[in-house]
Amino acid sequence: MNAPIQRTGTGPGTGTGGSARPAVPTRPLLVARGLSKHFGGLQAVAELDLDVREGEILGVIGPNGAGKSTTFNMIAGALAPTRGSLVFDGKELTGLPAHAMAARGIMRTFQHNKPFASMTVRENVMVGMHRRLQGALWRVLLAGVGAVRAEREAVRQADELITFVGLGQWRDADVDTLSFGQGRLLEIARALASEPRLILLDEPAAGLTPAECERLSGIVREIAQRGIAVLLIEHDMRFLMPLADRVVVLNFGRKIAQGTPAEIRADEAVVQAYLGDLGAMTDA
Ligand SMILES: Nc1ncnc2c1ncn2[C@@H]1O[C@H](COP(=O)(O)OP(=O)(O)OP(=O)(O)O)[C@@H](O)[C@H]1O
Ligand SMILES: [Mg+2]
Repeated sequence: MNAPIQRTGTGPGTGTGGSARPAVPTRPLLVARGLSKHFGGLQAVAELDLDVREGEILGVIGPNGAGKSTTFNMIAGALAPTRGSLVFDGKELTGLPAHAMAARGIMRTFQHNKPFASMTVRENVMVGMHRRLQGALWRVLLAGVGAVRAEREAVRQADELITFVGLGQWRDADVDTLSFGQGRLLEIARALASEPRLILLDEPAAGLTPAECERLSGIVREIAQRGIAVLLIEHDMRFLMPLADRVVVLNFGRKIAQGTPAEIRADEAVVQAYLGDLGAMTDA
């Protein structure tokens, strides 16, 4: 009976039919300065400066091995930077482990699906809630309402997220039965369950059908509309360019350009290093 999701803000009249998102605020949520990662003699990421603003979709592109996932790994706390600093919401976070980054509102999905096997879709999302649930549970218990109600509320929130990513009818299914594309969407629901302020999506469209890409694109827009900043690695420019507010281009670990999608498409160095190889970009 409950409406699947009540979204606020957009209202019925969407005007021109394009992206109806409000203007991107300028406040930087994440500020990376001089971020570097060396693996032995290999400079995977070198002196990277990156600002991510609240509620924006920032695309990260570049050839294979350019350092995109390594950058994500540092921001998400999976890898400690060799050098440089990460400041999130005004606080220094450099080198903190993943659980500490998650606790502060930075959550990522992986380039390859990593569901908790032999669990249902709903259980997977509830694992993602773990951090928040603990706090919420205590609050509720202290208020004398009881754990049963807290649990019911957690299930309700998990189900809302599952519906949001379009997996409503599979919520009781074992994750092993999901298609690859459904697994990608589950990863996003699980990441959202921790209520991040910044979500890092590493090639979320890879391997998806056109219909799934379309759905994913709407989901990413909606995430940003809810005020969550999105850092998005993608090789599929037809997917990324219409979505991104800004794009950063990496090549051999270094940032070679940043700007609006239109600026990036017109950038000679970017075309030479990357976009030229991708061929037909013109409809993006
Ligand atoms: N744990 C590691 N140990 C050693 N070298 C690594 C490690 N992780 C990444 N590298 C190397 O660092 C460089 C950057 O890799 P990274 O995975 O960040 O690239 P990417 O831009 O994400 O590429 P792709 O588009 O193929 O996913 C590559 O040369 C890669 O082989
Ligand atoms: Mg990668």
